[in-house]
Amino acid sequence: MAIDYQDRIPNNVDLAGDRRLQRALEAWQPNFLAWWREMGPLGYQNAEVYLRTAINVGAKGWANFSHVRMPDYRWGIFLAEPEPDRRVPFGEHRGEPAWQEVPGEHRATLRRLIVTQGDTEPASVEQQRYLGATAPSIYDLRNLFQVNVEEGRHLWAMVYLLHAHFGRDGREEADAMLLRRSGDPDRPRILGAFNEKTPDWLSFFMFTFFTDRDGKYQLASLAESGFDPLARSCRFMLTEEAHHMFVGETGIGRVVQRAAELTRRHGTEDVRRFGAIDLATVQRYLNFHFSVSLDLFGAELSSNAASYFSAGLKGRYEEAKLKDDHCLLDASYPVCTLEGDRFRELRQPALNALNERLRDDYIADCQRGVDRWNKVLRERGIARELRLPHRAFNRKIGAFAGQFVSPDGRVLGDAEWRGRRDDWLPSVADAAYVGSLMQPVREAGKMANWIAPPARGIDGKPLDFDYVRLDV
Ligand SMILES: [Fe+2]
Ligand SMILES: [Fe+2]
Repeated sequence: MAIDYQDRIPNNVDLAGDRRLQRALEAWQPNFLAWWREMGPLGYQNAEVYLRTAINVGAKGWANFSHVRMPDYRWGIFLAEPEPDRRVPFGEHRGEPAWQEVPGEHRATLRRLIVTQGDTEPASVEQQRYLGATAPSIYDLRNLFQVNVEEGRHLWAMVYLLHAHFGRDGREEADAMLLRRSGDPDRPRILGAFNEKTPDWLSFFMFTFFTDRDGKYQLASLAESGFDPLARSCRFMLTEEAHHMFVGETGIGRVVQRAAELTRRHGTEDVRRFGAIDLATVQRYLNFHFSVSLDLFGAELSSNAASYFSAGLKGRYEEAKLKDDHCLLDASYPVCTLEGDRFRELRQPALNALNERLRDDYIADCQRGVDRWNKVLRERGIARELRLPHRAFNRKIGAFAGQFVSPDGRVLGDAEWRGRRDDWLPSVADAAYVGSLMQPVREAGKMANWIAPPARGIDGKPLDFDYVRLDV
């Protein structure tokens, strides 16, 4: 499964063996680069960035690090190694050989799933376009660009599937991916969270922790798909995605660490006085990004989710490790439901509750990250803790949309909600304060005052390594 870097489009899918497909993708490539120049990171296109590039899709040693100008990054098509004799792992077709071609009756549904996933990838690059100007260190600047080029590669992964398996409609969808724009009222990206702004680095770290993690769970459930090329694409994307969530988790961890250190030193939680971000503000940003990311999983009860599963298209998180019949025809699942002003768990048909189940897996994973941030606080003698808000807080999609629920899960009236809103979600003043801290730090090894240095560098390099060479 070595990757062919001789081709104009690096790949491990023997692109040269299919001239028509190769030509179609080579025709899409300049449009992708034009999109990158228009909507990718603003500036820095001539800077040499210490980027990792995939050289092999195996579990070990798949990455190579070197200084690369972003437009020269070798975006390509990498599928995880095929599993010999792979079978459809769930649903009505369980046990049949996995499909190498799209089953005719599921063509429109699969295309929609791939387009929806694919659309998020360029969307996040667009959302992060302006962050380079205010990076808190050269180390962070490099991480931003690594995330950006890999989201570009994830777009390539989905565009390959569209071109290779969906004929003319697929090619049209691939073109449309480069036409929508995050936040554009006339041609927005498909999902709500991908039209929000990422105006500052606190938002960026929250986004990579919470929203990239939604990506992890969507990719993981598509990695189970009976449509084998999709499963293999997503399996390799997950290895790249892990770094994005690392950027988020360690980014927030460093903000929290800095707040804790200043609180200890000065004996006050009001660390804004010392140019840092107080934990109350961190909590409000967390509340916002968690709640908009929960919406990405869709309605609690969904007949679409049931049919994706039954058809063998989209599985559960770690489907293969689950011990049940993988068909779920008679199974039930507890779903948090609002009755009057009380939350209760109601058993619902498991097939219809698959979105909620994936959301539960996601919430548990988020909680583990929050626990690690709280450990950072505890180790520095800080009693305050960060908390995930209640799942019904600030929701726009599903059963809790239109309800007013506090972060601790009390159902409120409209007036009380409006009175407390700024205690729970970032206010205009919070955004202005965080924005005022966003001053670039360009000296290798130095950090902005509001964030602690990372525990270690990238690829075993020291913190003052020239991760981005600006003066070239
Ligand atoms: Fe991605
Ligand atoms: Fe990502």
